[in-house]
Amino acid sequence: MYRSHNCGELNASNINTEVTLAGWVQKSRDKGFMNWVDLRDRYGITQLIFDESRTEKTVFELAKTLGREFVIQVKGTVIEREAKNKNIPTGEIEILVTELTILNAALTPPFTIEDETDGGEDIRMKYRYLDIRRNPVKNSLLFRHKVAMEVRKYLSDLDFCEVETPYLIKSTPEGARDFVVPSRMNEGQFYALPQSPQTFKQLLMVGGMDKYFQIVKCFRDEDLRADRQPEFTQIDCEMAFVEQEDILNVFEGLTRHLLKEIKGIEVDKFPRITYDYAMKTYGNDKPDIRFGMEFGELNEFAQHKDFPVFNAAELVVGIAVPGAGNYTRKEIDGLIDWVKRPQVGASGMVYTKCNDDGTFKSSVDKFYDQDDLGQWAKITGAKPGDMIFVLSGPANKTRAQLSALRMELATRLGLRNPEVFAPLWVVDFPLLELDEESGRYHAMHHPFTSPKPEDMQLLETEPGKVRANAYDMVLNGNEIGGGSIRIHDKATQQLMFKYLGFTEDEAKAQFGFLMDAFQFGAPPHGGLAFGLDRLVAILGGQETIRDFIAFPKNNSGRDVMIDAPAAIDDTQLKELHIKLDTI
Ligand code: AMO
Repeated sequence: MYRSHNCGELNASNINTEVTLAGWVQKSRDKGFMNWVDLRDRYGITQLIFDESRTEKTVFELAKTLGREFVIQVKGTVIEREAKNKNIPTGEIEILVTELTILNAALTPPFTIEDETDGGEDIRMKYRYLDIRRNPVKNSLLFRHKVAMEVRKYLSDLDFCEVETPYLIKSTPEGARDFVVPSRMNEGQFYALPQSPQTFKQLLMVGGMDKYFQIVKCFRDEDLRADRQPEFTQIDCEMAFVEQEDILNVFEGLTRHLLKEIKGIEVDKFPRITYDYAMKTYGNDKPDIRFGMEFGELNEFAQHKDFPVFNAAELVVGIAVPGAGNYTRKEIDGLIDWVKRPQVGASGMVYTKCNDDGTFKSSVDKFYDQDDLGQWAKITGAKPGDMIFVLSGPANKTRAQLSALRMELATRLGLRNPEVFAPLWVVDFPLLELDEESGRYHAMHHPFTSPKPEDMQLLETEPGKVRANAYDMVLNGNEIGGGSIRIHDKATQQLMFKYLGFTEDEAKAQFGFLMDAFQFGAPPHGGLAFGLDRLVAILGGQETIRDFIAFPKNNSGRDVMIDAPAAIDDTQLKELHIKLDTI
């Protein structure tokens, strides 16, 4: 038996008990005649004491050789501590050691393995297994486990069945590039790793599984950001014989359950807003609604005066920033520079200060009188003491720019409190999105999404106006899930591929299996997938998903610990029929 207890469970009630513990040496304090060692495992820290007058000489001497992160086993007696530590559960006791075994020596770790570490991101990623010994990382993984368990419990109780789907498949379009795997047995052919199990879960519905879920890895070769990893995990779900309303209710229920069980927070029914409303009001299809600063469109009161910039613009739009009326000239200039950075891309910004006496002072006073500015204040909801910031230009671009400013200001003003949770649904997404470069439409969600029946007739004439039965769940400014009601008949699916620019042969080659299945009694069905990493990170009060993944990739898609991706040797290349020099 390696241990009788773990390092987090002994307390005053165990005094005088003989115990065996095992773990890592966090640190040791050698005072010559007395040596204290903090012994750590996943469950906590227990203090060991080696005392020249009470500990056998060989054990006492051996303890002096212990270095940080040595793995040891000790036997001893639980005794009351003289200097108690009220901050940890084991703080009232210590172990007077009688036997010490070094199970494994350790090199000095490249960074300190404590809550506050001196290790930078790169070194911690290279030695991730050491990083995982630290509480912040370990606790994030335990937290993730707890969320995943609650999800499994909730969905299983509703009769959802977890089914595994294959990883070696062919392309499932979700808008990113595929990771591909060469086939040794089929020369010149490749599997694609799933961007999601989308087609398989639909086939499970055709197979009569009725309610499916899977906590599943997905792979997307796309540019990485704080909320994106090349391999990430979805809570993937699908249901048969449902309408959009059924799906929203089930997964709103799941999210509400998680908020309650994990965070102890009860939330009301989630607001639902349309995609159009989200874009007009927040400039964004994943709005953070923990705070206001909603957009006010000012064209009516900003155009046809003598300010040529606004007159030439498709959209003039502003936000009222609470309490920002006292910003200094320097602060305002700083913000103007901020919106002009290439990442935001505005060409300039107009501001109007709302004075306490109800008057206004604007950077464009020359062109607008107090009545005009009063209208701006009314439309943006500005109050005395606020500042109105206004951007103008092409509608979509300007909305995106103002959205970036809104989020930045909210962060600076401390309005994005990670312990406040404001979930909502965004519904009625457009079915298609115009790719400006190619001039072609592509599916905004994916090609299996059903158009709204009432919009079907617009497909020929105004494809950009067709709305889909598609929805996203948004939490604190992050898209944590998305899904749709699916097309379930061959004719509509074929039509959709046609509108997406597939020839009949291409559609058949890529998705013939799905359209075939639709001819064998496909039930109406729909579903959604949550991003588990994102959900866990946000519930954990953060937005960087890397911290909640045991072995994440860096921003170049590399695992710096195992050094992947890596070259493979010539024999392997040959077996896979790959000739690098021909590429
Ligand atoms: P979608 O592409 O919207 O839908 O993905 C669902 C959710 O997965 C998360 N997500 C990611 N998380 C981390 N890293 C990434 N690279 C990444 N990409 C996506 C997001 C997103 O909301 N098959 C459909 C679902 C359906 O229609 O049922 C799908 O995959 O939180």
